[in-house]
Amino acid sequence: MATNSNFNPHRVTIVGAGRIGTIHLQCLLELSTSFQVSNIVDDHPSETTRFLVSRHSSIKLRPQSEVDDAIEDSDVVGVCVPTSLHEGVILKALNAGKHVFSEKPLVNTLEAVHRVYDTAKAKGLLLLCGMTRRFDPPAQKVKKEIEAGNLGTILNITGINRDNPYPPIEFLKHSPNIYYDCGVHDIDLALWLLGEKPVLVYCMGHCFDKRLQPYDDDDNASILMKFPSGATSIIELSRFSNCGFDQRFMVHGDQKSAGSYSLPKDGYLEMTNQQGVSKSCLRFDFQRRFERAYVEEWKHLHLCLVGTEEPMVKKEEVLSATLTADAINCSRETGLPVTIDHEKFTFHPKQSSK
Ligand SMILES: NC(=O)c1ccc[n+]([C@@H]2O[C@H](COP(=O)([O-])OP(=O)(O)OC[C@H]3O[C@@H](n4cnc5c(N)ncnc54)[C@H](O)[C@@H]3O)[C@@H](O)[C@H]2O)c1
Repeated sequence: MATNSNFNPHRVTIVGAGRIGTIHLQCLLELSTSFQVSNIVDDHPSETTRFLVSRHSSIKLRPQSEVDDAIEDSDVVGVCVPTSLHEGVILKALNAGKHVFSEKPLVNTLEAVHRVYDTAKAKGLLLLCGMTRRFDPPAQKVKKEIEAGNLGTILNITGINRDNPYPPIEFLKHSPNIYYDCGVHDIDLALWLLGEKPVLVYCMGHCFDKRLQPYDDDDNASILMKFPSGATSIIELSRFSNCGFDQRFMVHGDQKSAGSYSLPKDGYLEMTNQQGVSKSCLRFDFQRRFERAYVEEWKHLHLCLVGTEEPMVKKEEVLSATLTADAINCSRETGLPVTIDHEKFTFHPKQSSK
């Protein structure tokens, strides 16, 4: 995977410059010794993107009809188009011999996860999925605490994901439902922190916003997961928040609990033990909650490209998160708990509560 360009910035083409593509552009401009944005492809880029391009003459803003030329003129392609278009752009980039960073959810189906990772492997290219929560500095610290055994036996992970503001209906119409679009962050975080895959899930959801009801989606839900060790997880998922972009998680061990709320730059870390509670200062700018995590994603990608780190998000983990989201969706549809077999990649509604 190591490239020869240890000292030359990797040239990046960003495909899709809406909300998240613009954030990645800003991150890459901050990391100018490692990356140089060569092209941005979008017929309707954000105003901020247009402004930043006007300040950087080396960046070409291209129409979607020029995507092939733009990809050719790069080492890495950042895939920031709507989710339903990810697979096509990822394959196009890989087949052109380019490394890929793609937003989550990576692709829509298990088969598609195989297709994109197998293509990357066959071509000897890096494919990194932006599971943002893992790159959040407090989550990294909590993961180290768990791995060091400092929390003791993990009993439970609670997650709260209250999106804010309510996304445009136009965006939601073209997104997979809330369990894939939002929930995949919390699912992936819980699986990664625990190092386990859930064997049983249960989900109840409801769609409150009448504008969304025709699209078979929910905007408020609770998810339960049980893992082979006996640990459980509960995730609150909502498109509504009355206090900004409300993102929290807490891992409860029998010795210590550790988790995160929000901070100006590095997130919010809370630790409790028998002596008391230690907290960082909370801030109110929830919109920028994950700004450091997005930068960390690209720093990590750079270290993978120069061969000093292995990709933190692996094919097997994306498969597990996708299968879990499929099972959660099944539970939401059937109203039943759903068992998952991660060896066979199958799940089944459980008719009996035994
Ligand atoms: N990791 C995160 O925290 C996070 C946050 C938001 C969105 N996302 C993900 O990022 C992706 C994009 O979401 P968004 O919120 O930026 O959506 P968005 O609608 O704001 O932006 C998408 C952009 O893609 C452009 N586009 C559409 N078709 C295109 C094409 N064929 N070629 C080039 N550009 C095209 C649109 O004009 C638009 O500017 C989604 O997969 C979403 O799940 C991730």
